[in-house]
Order: sequence, then structure tokens, then C-alpha cells
Amino acid sequence: MCFYSLAVSARIIFAQLNQKNMVDVILGLQWGDEGKGKIVDWFAKDYDVIARFQGGPNAGHTLYVNDKKVVLHQIPSGIFHPGTVNLIGNGVVLDPVTLKKECETAGSFGVELKKNLFVSERTHLILPTHRALDKAAEISKGNQKIGSTLKGIGPAYMDKTGRNGLRVGDLLDKTFTTSYIKLRLKHQKLLDNYSFSEDISTWEEEFFEAVEFLRQLNIVNGEYFINDKLRQGKKILAEGAQGSMLDIDFGTFPYVTSSNTVSAAVCTGLGIAPQKIREVIGITKAYCTRVGSGPFPTELTEETGEQLRKTGNEYGATTGRSRRCGWIDLVALRYACMINGVTKLVMTKADVLDSFTDLKICTSYRLNGKESTEIPFQMEKINIEPVYKNFPGWNTDISAAKKYEKLPLNMKSYIDFINEYLGVSINYVSNGPGRDQILIIG
Ligand code: GDP
Ligand code: IMO
Ligand code: MG
Repeated sequence: MCFYSLAVSARIIFAQLNQKNMVDVILGLQWGDEGKGKIVDWFAKDYDVIARFQGGPNAGHTLYVNDKKVVLHQIPSGIFHPGTVNLIGNGVVLDPVTLKKECETAGSFGVELKKNLFVSERTHLILPTHRALDKAAEISKGNQKIGSTLKGIGPAYMDKTGRNGLRVGDLLDKTFTTSYIKLRLKHQKLLDNYSFSEDISTWEEEFFEAVEFLRQLNIVNGEYFINDKLRQGKKILAEGAQGSMLDIDFGTFPYVTSSNTVSAAVCTGLGIAPQKIREVIGITKAYCTRVGSGPFPTELTEETGEQLRKTGNEYGATTGRSRRCGWIDLVALRYACMINGVTKLVMTKADVLDSFTDLKICTSYRLNGKESTEIPFQMEKINIEPVYKNFPGWNTDISAAKKYEKLPLNMKSYIDFINEYLGVSINYVSNGPGRDQILIIG
């Protein structure tokens, strides 16, 4: 073998080895609830580690195990695959009470938590007073309220950036209770300012019980844990929560959540370097939903919206609230693809459009009479009129389809148009909530 072919072979082997030491990301591109739970569960069989990198129990990720519906709020959606290790990363905010309940559910399915679940010691804790503060802040906002899930997310992240928060690793320190009391007193002053007088003693009892449970789990140094896995050539999938339009920087501020939900947050939320990120798999519904307050340019407040809600069963997995529904918005979606560096797309809930005769896709916004394809600053203060392109529906039940090639032509035209507009291709179409209802394109 000549020197040249040796060098080429070495480069190929090196590239292959290198490919293994990478992290793929799955995240939502809209306002959350895109179907991340189902899709992560589907992909999990091909990965060694699934890691949550941000958000908290405001997330509700639905998946089906043995035909039973499970909603995960804190635990990554790979937990039902016995060969997959699941990590709750440092970028997450963790409510021990929710975690304990979820662990019990997972345990009832035979999940071995000692083997499959790990929590970073740097993960910040959500305290009962964070939940109280969330509620008090929302009440004080009146009709300007965010529509928070009231899980204490905002106050917990405020204590993190304010350098007051308590972390999972602190639970192992004998001074934990003293630190807790100190922070609780601080919170009490804020609650008094809000004139919040609800009794939270039962929340505190539950919290301390759950803290005891959490102490028994695998508490690890998450950044070494994940980088060791990378060095061992393990395949890692980072699971996002919420969606890009709820990102604290790039979403529809102030109607957003309190963390960065975009792909960049994988690095800070797990402790891995940017060059380790390979695929960024973005999920979009075939239409669009939002729960809580804030701008939603393509929202349908009439019967078409109701039809989407009913057919798509659009009720929140965490709070049970009705989700607002509307047509797919390519202006917002292209923005999300840009911010995240999306390399592949998954379209979920395509089956929900089966019975619609006419469909619309938003291709631009009309702002004060001028057309634009950019997301404006302070979206909530501008009158945005969506500009639509009409598409004929496919009027076919696709929920039993097993091959993309078999899908109706009208649906393929709908997908082709989106691919072309976004410059990224839809590689997977989800055609039902079931574990295997997914079609691979190409
Ligand atoms: P997540 O927060 O992104 O994980 O999404 P949620 O679980 O909050 O909401 C998605 C909902 O849609 C859940 O009830 C899923 O079971 C359901 N779902 C996911 N994919 C599909 C699909 O392709 N078709 C239908 N009809 N339902 C789906
Ligand atoms: P998953 O991961 C949909 C919304 C809330 C509210 C705003 C702020 O299931 O997609 P917060 O509780 O963070 O203070 O709420 O963000 N929100 C979500 N909407 N899916 C979610 O998570 C959400 N998490 C938060 O409704 O408008
Ligand atoms: Mg959800």
C-alpha cells in the first residue's frame, strides 16, 4: 500500500472514531410540546446516554410504554430503554418532589434507577418557596401574567443567576438544612412583599421527604461523567425542553421561560465543548401550538383552531390547560433553524391534519403594511398580520402508514414546500402518538 492510500485510510478511520465522540441534540422549534418525549424515546435505542440540559418540571414529555401513557417532567425520555443511561444535567432546575414521583412511576415499569439515572451535583434545586414566589409573581402581574406553569422555574433560575441557589451536591453537606432556612427566610421577605400568605408547610414536608430520596440516587460530577462517556466513544443525545420561541434570549420575551432552550445551551447545561455537537435535530408540529400568554401570529381563535385542538388533543401535559392552536409559521421556524443550526427536521402530528380540506402555511408577516420574513423585536407590541400560502389538504388517514413513499401527494407537496423555504429537510414524519408511528424519509 502506498503512503498516499495509507494516509487516506488513516484519515477515514480517524474521522469514524471522531464521529463517535459526538453529541446529537433534539429540541423543539416552536413554543414547546412539539412531541420531544415521543421522538427522544424513539431515537434513544441508538444512543448510550440521554441527557437533559435545561428547564425543569415545567416540561411535560409524553411517551408510551407498553401502550401506557407516561408523562416525564424531570427524567430524560430515554429512561425506558434498559441499555440507556440518563443524566439530569447541571443546566436543569430540579424539584425533588416531582423527581421522586417520577422515579416511582419509572420503577413500576421495572426501570433500575441505580443503573440508569444520574443527577449532576451542580443542578439547582427548586424549593417550595420558589413555587410560592412563582405564584405570587404571576398574581401580581394581573392580566400581563406570563401564564407560567407555576412550578417555580423563574424564581429557581433567579436564585441561580443571583448566586443564592442551592444545588443537588449541597444535599450531601451537613449544613444543608441551615442553608435552606437562610434562603427560606430571604424568600419569606419577598413573599411578604407580595402579601402572599398561603400555608406551604405540606409542600415543605413533601420536599424534605423527597430530598431524602434524592440523596440515595446517583449524584455525580456531570461534566466529568459526560466527558468520560464521550472519551469512551459512547453516543450521547441531549434532550431539550420547551421550545426555541420560549428561549429567554431569542423567544417572545417576556412571554418566555427562564432558560436558554436553544442548542447553545447544551454546552453550558452539560459541560461539553461546542465542537462536540454534531446533529441538531429540530422538531416542529405540522401546525403550531402555544400554551400560556404571549404573541402567536398564526393563532386561530375560531372553529379551525378548535378543530386542531380537538383532533390534536391539544391540552397541556403538565397543567392540563388548553393549548392555543394555529397554522405552521415558517418565519418563526426559519428563525429557530438559524439560531439552533438545525441539521435535520422531524415533523410531528402530521396525522392531525388528515381531515382538513384546506391548509395554510405562514410565509411572511405584514407589519404596519410592510412584509417581512424576520422575527421583530417586541413581537407582543406590534400588530402582526400573517401572510399565508394555501395548500389543499390530503383528506386521507395516514396514521397506519409505514412508508413515506405511500403518503398522499398533497402531503408531500406540503412537506416539500417547507423543506425548500427552510433550507433544511424534514427527515422524519410522525403520524400518531404511538411509539412506532414514525416514517423515515429517504
Ligand atoms: P413534548 O413536551 O414536546 O414532549 O410534547 P407533549 O408530550 O407535551 O405533547 C405532545 C402530544 O402529542 C403528546 O400527547 C403526544 O402523545 C402526542 N403526539 C406526539 N407525536 C404525535 C403524532 O405524530 N401524532 C399525534 N396525533 N399525536 C402525537
Ligand atoms: P415542554 O418541554 C409548553 C410555557 C408556559 C408559559 C411560559 C413560562 O413540555 O415543551 P414557566 O413555567 O417556565 O415559568 O412558563 O412557558 N412553558 C411551556 N409551554 N411546553 C413546555 O415544556 C413549557 N414549559 C414552559 O406555559 O407560557
Ligand atoms: Mg410538553
